[in-house]
Amino acid sequence: MSVRLAIVAGARPQFIKYGPINQAFDAKGIQQLLVHTGQHYDEAMSDLFFDQLELPQPNYNLGICDSSHGDMAGRMMIKLEEIFLSEKIDGVLVFGDTNSTLAAALVAAKIDGLDLIHVEAGLRSYNRKMPEEINRVITDHVSNLRFCPTGVSVANLEKEGLVEGVHLVGDVMYDATLSNVQKAPPLETIFRQLDFKEENYVLATVHRAENTDDPQRLVEILDYIEEHAEAPVLMPMHPRTKKRIQEYGLEVENMHVVDPVGYLEMITLLENAETIYTDSGGMQKEAYFLRTPCVTLRDETEWVETINCGWNRLWSVPDYQNRLEITEYGSGNAAQIVVDIICRHFKDRGRSL
Ligand code: UD1
Ligand code: UDP
Repeated sequence: MSVRLAIVAGARPQFIKYGPINQAFDAKGIQQLLVHTGQHYDEAMSDLFFDQLELPQPNYNLGICDSSHGDMAGRMMIKLEEIFLSEKIDGVLVFGDTNSTLAAALVAAKIDGLDLIHVEAGLRSYNRKMPEEINRVITDHVSNLRFCPTGVSVANLEKEGLVEGVHLVGDVMYDATLSNVQKAPPLETIFRQLDFKEENYVLATVHRAENTDDPQRLVEILDYIEEHAEAPVLMPMHPRTKKRIQEYGLEVENMHVVDPVGYLEMITLLENAETIYTDSGGMQKEAYFLRTPCVTLRDETEWVETINCGWNRLWSVPDYQNRLEITEYGSGNAAQIVVDIICRHFKDRGRSL
């Protein structure tokens, strides 16, 4: 009997990571059951990515969002367990480090005979105050297949005694950038849509809980961007940040704030900006893929090679290191390698996909 595979995704970066993985499965004619947890649900945070990346419509949308971590993860777990059992799922693939990742991982790990596959394994900030750090450590430890984007992420797993089922494959986000850069619209079109026009600009995004959930910290971050940006600032604002700014009664006057933009628009904006100021994990790398320098609005980063190769710096560090090419992220075929290894994994167990 062929293997039944479920993909669980719920947040913007996971839809992007699913893009190349979905294409690689499709190229082999392998069916996937897609479960959208509902964690991100605004048109501009979810449907837009399904359209632009030509993703299949989810088989299930759990509609679980907007509440505490425990409540969200708990309700996701109940629903996911029902689905994995009733659909007789043999393998569950999760991405990254969100609450949706954690919920799926905990359920999958406890179902006998079901294998958990983690794409973007081994990343560590070593800051346990970040909810993402808890999610990724737990997910890595209960996974059967761990797909690492970089050598550092492989070494991080080794330090925790995780060596089995670990594969260095490159970064599926690099695959996504390469396969979509040609489809990205011209800058003038986007400027017209966003009612923004500047010769030079800085692109900024902020959404991390550690930066938005304390009013003082959020003010500090916004002030930092305003003081250091070398050109007018364009900020596509995450709904979380927009809500916090309203809640704290803050005014953001010296930046051009817009709603979140689509992935294709983001590629063009990243490519043409003078600098990116961000606390996004994905955008730190995309800045490098498109050769734009980045300032990370966090006290540490998991993507240490972007710092060591001089394309990124932490906001607390004034200068970039010497600039070098980064050789870590693969050749744009990480997703294909992932799918080949998954096929081999099940074949070795006498199963086909
Ligand atoms: C989540 C992930 C984070 C990831 C980010 C990507 C966790 C713990 N965090 O953070 O790792 O970097 O997604 O963007 O899983 N909201 C809306 N509309 C939406 C989505 C969110 O209004 O479509 C608002 C809601 O008020 C919601 C808040 O944003 O409560 C936070 O959303 P949530 O998904 O819990 O966390 P993110 O900050 O998006
Ligand atoms: N992104 C986007 N539109 C936006 C902001 C981000 O398409 O308005 C893309 C970005 O290019 C990257 C991904 O979303 O591919 C990163 O998502 P986010 O910053 O929300 O999460 P993180 O990577 O920090 O987990």
